[in-house]
Amino acid sequence: MYGLVNKAIEELVVTNFGEDKWEQIKQKAGVEVDVFVSNEAYPDSVTYDLVGAASEVLGAPARDILIAFGEHWVLKTAATSYGAMMRAGGASLKEFLVNLPNFHTRVQMIYPKLQPPRFECSDIGENSLHLHYFTHRPGLTDFVIGLVQGLGKLYSTPTTAKVLSTKAGGADHDVFEVSWTSAAA
Ligand code: HEM
Repeated sequence: MYGLVNKAIEELVVTNFGEDKWEQIKQKAGVEVDVFVSNEAYPDSVTYDLVGAASEVLGAPARDILIAFGEHWVLKTAATSYGAMMRAGGASLKEFLVNLPNFHTRVQMIYPKLQPPRFECSDIGENSLHLHYFTHRPGLTDFVIGLVQGLGKLYSTPTTAKVLSTKAGGADHDVFEVSWTSAAA
């Protein structure tokens, strides 16, 4: 994955737990990169190893790390570094989710070697929809839950993401039921 993903993990750890913990995590992961370059592609194993090591060093399940990372990605990384792109995604949570299938097409213009996830929406109602998530990468279901929760916070719209089926559980792909209440005034 592109370096900006690993950089965002670094930022999440350093902001919340300090520089020392980050150095311990890199060491445990066997990652010898001093500075991640945003627009350089790194093997996916670097990202997975960092998440695994963060789970050990911080004593938190990988699930919690992935959810926290998803929220951080939307609320900090995307909101600060890619504000215009995020705003173009939609004026409400529902609009953003309905437009999500096209989102990474724009990201790909900046990062041509991107191997993006694919999203589809179905069962679109007033306050809920089914979000379908397709990827060749394993183990990122909880990351998507964190991303959706982060989007709910971004739009001040209390949101829940319930897993309906997972590829890990034998389904063709992951499906989430995303539900929300009206945006806070
Ligand atoms: C401007 C904001 C965003 C940027 C710049 C961005 C960029 C990226 C990048 C660079 C990767 C790594 C893939 C690679 O390097 O090949 C990635 C992966 C991913 N992105 Fe985004 N993204 C953004 C917003 C979002 C949003 C809003 C969602 C969903 C709500 C999302 C869902 C994902 C997921 C699930 C992956 C994991 C890869 C996979 O499933 O195979 N991204 N994105």
